[in-house]
Amino acid sequence: MRPALEPATLDLSLNVNGDAVTLTVPPFATLLDVLRDRLQLTGTKYACGEGECGACSVLLDGRVVNSCLVLAAECKGAEVVTIEGLATNGKLHPIQQAFVDHGAIQCGFCTPGMIMASFALLEANPSPTEEQVKRGLEGNLCRCTGYRKIIDAVLSLARGGGSDD
Ligand code: FES
Ligand code: FES
Repeated sequence: MRPALEPATLDLSLNVNGDAVTLTVPPFATLLDVLRDRLQLTGTKYACGEGECGACSVLLDGRVVNSCLVLAAECKGAEVVTIEGLATNGKLHPIQQAFVDHGAIQCGFCTPGMIMASFALLEANPSPTEEQVKRGLEGNLCRCTGYRKIIDAVLSLARGGGSDD
């Protein structure tokens, strides 16, 4: 017997930045496609499209993921947070503010992904050492800053200051 054909579209319900969202998507759509093209959340960037650069990083059920590698179909019922979900009442999130204060943004293309990865890092470990910050952000590439200012921005938020010893 021939295998059943895949459906041409699938219904998807998820929560994005606190809002319930329901939409119909092709089965091959990625989470990044849905965020950028269907929900116009263009803060999340498309760069390599193959999981190498981290520009598309978002939180999926609290875990940082490369949204270019996640099928939208895998996100049924999930909670997604993008860079647009961090500021509250028009006030930048402390991580966003730290990036501004430390000059950790140049062209800005890596910045949303870098901030989402920093968010996940600081949630998991509020007092990271410099080495832990470097490891936590190793999946996020920046072609402009040389990383120093990004690392300093994240370390400025570390509670109590961790030690690499
Ligand atoms: S665009 Fe997803 S990792 Fe580069
Ligand atoms: S600021 Fe340009 S790639 Fe990071």
